[in-house]
Amino acid sequence: RNRPTYKIASIPADGIGPEVVEAGITVLKCLSKFLYTFNLEFEHFNWSSNLYLKTGKYIPDGGLERLKEFDAILFGAVGAPNVPDHISLWGLRLAICQPFQQYANGGRSHVGQPWEVATEVAIFTRHAVERLIRFAFETARSRPRKFLTVVTKSNAQRNGMVLWDEVAELVAKDFSDVTYDKMLVDAMTVRMTLKPETLDTIVASNLHADILSDLAAALAGSIGIAPTSNLDPTRKNPSMFEPIHGSAFDITGKGIANPVATFWTAAEMLAWLGEEDASNTLMECVERVCEKGIKTADLGGTATTIQVTEAVCEEIERNL
Ligand code: NAI
Repeated sequence: RNRPTYKIASIPADGIGPEVVEAGITVLKCLSKFLYTFNLEFEHFNWSSNLYLKTGKYIPDGGLERLKEFDAILFGAVGAPNVPDHISLWGLRLAICQPFQQYANGGRSHVGQPWEVATEVAIFTRHAVERLIRFAFETARSRPRKFLTVVTKSNAQRNGMVLWDEVAELVAKDFSDVTYDKMLVDAMTVRMTLKPETLDTIVASNLHADILSDLAAALAGSIGIAPTSNLDPTRKNPSMFEPIHGSAFDITGKGIANPVATFWTAAEMLAWLGEEDASNTLMECVERVCEKGIKTADLGGTATTIQVTEAVCEEIERNL
């Protein structure tokens, strides 16, 4: 087959984002060089809290339109000590990954007054819930255990989450080969901690998944290893791939950020682009490096970001 070229937009953004994205790009280039089955072209976007502080905008005018030209987006982390977190998150990350989501925000009124009111309204549409749950069942079906856990909170959130449960039950009828169970989010934290082996694919709404995914990463050893994919299954828009962690101010610039989350992220990106073999090779190489004990401090090791990155590149070269 032809050697395809993938155009990747990289948005390292803030804190350790640039350090781990650089490490990710290094191993991706290594893979493409030694596997020689595909090309990668990177274009870097300096969208960050620094840019926001200078210009008042995270994404310059026309920025989202430019992103649509890319096959995928590799994102670092956004958040800076001198910008409130809801401004940075909504200004950059959510502005990219949710531009078409039905999400309403009632806002705040009488700010600073004793009678101030603030609301946070999540709107669940049947269309969006079904689209997501169907994707979750398909994902579960593609994995060996064919087992899905649907996280809910329909005892307390008796509107959106009840719709969520009903849709899950309906969609399940189309997936008789997939077993599924339902868990309240509070009980889910206990099950994840005490019996993680009873879980496989998990689907949850945004806020629940946000919390549970950090727990999953911590249970697996460190928040520095877990990847995230923000997928557009219709492939009309580029999907965005990022490590689950934030910008980690406490270790920024020290050269000790764990790049494994970004490597795993890069592997998910390659798989999404159709490069399954390259994706598997990358993960095998990362696993071998971890087995050798070449790990950053968050995993109890002493290696730097660069040492882990170089070790993975050496494994890739040795693999071939
Ligand atoms: P964080 O994930 O940045 O850090 C939490 C803890 O984990 C810190 O002690 C940090 O040193 C450690 N850590 C995180 N990634 C690591 C890595 N790769 N290697 C080693 N240690 C690692 O979460 P925090 O402190 O709550 O948030 C910091 C900033 O990041 C905030 O501004 C927040 O809004 C933002 N943030 C951004 C996200 C995104 O862009 N997707 C996600 C989460 C937080």
